[in-house]
Amino acid sequence: MIELANVHKRYGRYEEALSGVDLHVDPGEFVFIVGPSGAGKTTLIRLLYREELPTSGTVRVAGKDLSRMRPREVPYFRRQVGVVFQDFKLLPERTVWDNVAFALVVTEVSPKEIRRRVPAVLELVGLRDRARMKAQELSGGEQQRVAIARALVHGPPLLIADEPTGNLDPTTAWEVVQVLVDVNHRGTTVVVASHAKALVDALRRRVVELAAGRVVRDEVRGLYVHEA
Ligand SMILES: Nc1ncnc2c1ncn2[C@@H]1O[C@H](COP(=O)(O)OP(=O)(O)OP(=O)(O)O)[C@@H](O)[C@H]1O
Ligand SMILES: [Mg+2]
Repeated sequence: MIELANVHKRYGRYEEALSGVDLHVDPGEFVFIVGPSGAGKTTLIRLLYREELPTSGTVRVAGKDLSRMRPREVPYFRRQVGVVFQDFKLLPERTVWDNVAFALVVTEVSPKEIRRRVPAVLELVGLRDRARMKAQELSGGEQQRVAIARALVHGPPLLIADEPTGNLDPTTAWEVVQVLVDVNHRGTTVVVASHAKALVDALRRRVVELAAGRVVRDEVRGLYVHEA
């Protein structure tokens, strides 16, 4: 699903944000990306949905070499990768339904198909009964679940999330992570950059640790901090 080979990323003339990163993620995996602030987690995430291109090295996602992708292929590619952010990025004045349906409207999915898919993804995140509420009327955890529903509406094989629980209290964060686990159990590959030590430790999934732009640890059933 993901294949990074000797990836370097430098912004302008600053020091490298990523230095020689190799990473292989199989379809169906659930991976946490951890590491201190500035380690390169967000940079890595942004490379995966082609928000940034590597300075050198190759990034392959869902069978595509992202550096070689033609501009007209990019919109199609983006539908294959759902992305979730710390700050939800919803349209606050619009309804839950509109926030999720919007991604389908812009890709010219038929109204009939929209009426089928939106309730299905809202059901998946446990928000079917919130469809008519405005996004801003929901709790933080509910808003993040709307963002997850929106990310899933094209049925992507890969879901990536950058600090998805960063703005949530521990209980709500746990609920959101359970949704991500659920999504993974249904077959979607999930990659989550996270500072949430308690969540990483509770789940015991694959942990890839970055430090100063390098992969310093990659464990199959890891903890947030390497066991001494
Ligand atoms: N647009 C940018 N321009 C210049 N430097 C950048 C840019 N984005 C990130 N950086 C630098 O790249 C390095 C890695 O940043 P990145 O945001 O990937 O870290 P992070 O691990 O996500 O940190 P955090 O935990 O604080 O979110 C940092 O030194 C950062 O200052
Ligand atoms: Mg970050």
